[in-house]
Amino acid sequence: MRVWLIVLFFCLPISCARREPPAPPILPAGELSQRSLLPADPYADARRALAERAVARERRFREAYEPGSMWRWLRVEQADIDAGRIQGQALLDIGRALFAVDFTPEQGLGNGLAQRKSRLAGPRPAPNLRHVQYKEFGGPDGTRCLSCHHVGGDGGGGFRSDNSFLDGDGERPASALERNPRAIVGAAIIQKLAEEMTAELRQQLDRVRRFGGASTAVPLVAKGISFGTLRLDRAGRVDPSAISGVDADLVVRPFGWKGDTATLREAVEQALQKNLGVQPERWINDPRIRSDTARVGDGPRANDPDHDGVVREATDGMVTALVTYLASLAPPIEAMPEDPSFLLRASRGAELFEQIGCAGCHVPELPLDSTVVELGPRPGSGRVDLAPLLTAPGQPRRARTVRLYSDLRRHDMGDSLAEPRPYRGVSGRLWLTPPLWGIAASGPYMHDGRATNLDAAILAHDGEGRAAREAYSKLHFEDQGALNLFLTVLDRPHHMEFRR
Ligand code: HEC
Ligand code: HEC
Repeated sequence: MRVWLIVLFFCLPISCARREPPAPPILPAGELSQRSLLPADPYADARRALAERAVARERRFREAYEPGSMWRWLRVEQADIDAGRIQGQALLDIGRALFAVDFTPEQGLGNGLAQRKSRLAGPRPAPNLRHVQYKEFGGPDGTRCLSCHHVGGDGGGGFRSDNSFLDGDGERPASALERNPRAIVGAAIIQKLAEEMTAELRQQLDRVRRFGGASTAVPLVAKGISFGTLRLDRAGRVDPSAISGVDADLVVRPFGWKGDTATLREAVEQALQKNLGVQPERWINDPRIRSDTARVGDGPRANDPDHDGVVREATDGMVTALVTYLASLAPPIEAMPEDPSFLLRASRGAELFEQIGCAGCHVPELPLDSTVVELGPRPGSGRVDLAPLLTAPGQPRRARTVRLYSDLRRHDMGDSLAEPRPYRGVSGRLWLTPPLWGIAASGPYMHDGRATNLDAAILAHDGEGRAAREAYSKLHFEDQGALNLFLTVLDRPHHMEFRR
């Protein structure tokens, strides 16, 4: 029986020591280990949940009596994190609360662009919510992160009714691209895997540039995954027609259904702008992003492009708190059934998963070379050591593998899944192979949530996934059941939680 248990420790002082001056660990070792495991003692888990609820109630009472008091706590500054004044559990508590809180117009929710009759925004006063997003500017289409990321636990996926309509004209759903909220699990591990794959692809490019020539063509491979052929044109540029599954810059982007975003931090910043209209401070301070008024708004004041009278809406520190919290969420487990007959069928399902070709894209294991990832706003900041995540407590450290069930590349999934146009430069037919770890916890499935269960998700495969779908359709119903049972084993560890 394989039960994959994981513990999360952040930035052991040893791994931080190489920097000058050493950044204080934002999350000292050990603090998260309890929440990352299946609760060994359900009564202790219940006591923890009750204690957390009591603290949350206390905060709400204070906020009701003294409006704004909670926000003084939530508006964390990066300088305080850098100086070690806010770290560990305190930082996680802030991140968790920021994920769950309803933002208000006073805190920068939405925009005040209505008076300007801007095409970017709707006609109402702030927050000026609208369900269909306008291009890169977004909605806002929500008031809190948790309202869309809740299925299967905090940071989970969303219902179909939580879908976002991206990149539209701000009015007609038919103008937009419909997307189901993705579960955000093990995100820091995914980011690190992708960074290592990018580095491996870039090394191959360097070698070909140095030793090859315009006529060389070599297979492009990272962590055993093929990305087509690396061929340079006369000017030494990558020939985009020969590579596949990745952009011509060879950066593996593991976030978003299209595989369009490279880091968790970037994904969180995009969510703040597009879903909540809460503008990341870093965007406003970056002249390149600030000058892109279609993205940040065309208000007249330089420090408030969405024109709602609020400046520094999401500080770097708030983004760090959200990112750290999401990185700390327990990664999935494989919890095999105890019942011997189910156990046998789940094992049969795992075999079939390989035999009928699912594992060709949903690659069960990827090796991880280094476990230190950077989550902060600057290179070298927010270092976190993910090592204990990959070793069960009390077990010797083995080669680190991540049971992700993805190749972190894009595939052509055919006409029936295609969108009518590209999104962020990625063709309408291409989709990132979604990791299947934790899949049991996060229905509905597929990029627009069209599949209400796993069987329907498999039957929706087309294009490069068509052969596997047909092989599945031909299976005897008992074998189909075994495969579905196996997928149901890929779950998230569950803890007691009070829903706010
Ligand atoms: C109205 C619904 C909605 C709200 C509110 C929302 N999201 Fe999302 N989120 C989505 C959708 C839809 C996607 C998938 C987008 C895509 O694939 O292009 C997504 C994707 C993400 C991802 C990428 C996950 C991955 O593995 O690809 C992250 C991270 C994320 N959201 C964080 C947040 C945070 C943080 C907030 C609050 C600031 C938030 N979201 C608020 C709908 C929402
Ligand atoms: C050619 C690569 C490929 C193969 C082969 C493949 N898949 Fe997928 N799978 C994908 C992609 C890409 C998506 C997302 C497509 C979309 O959302 O439109 C996906 C989506 C899924 C989902 C839904 C995930 C979610 O988060 O909603 C499940 C479940 C799944 N696949 C299981 C399987 C099984 C089981 C098999 C074997 C019968 C299989 N896949 C074969 C590429 C593949």
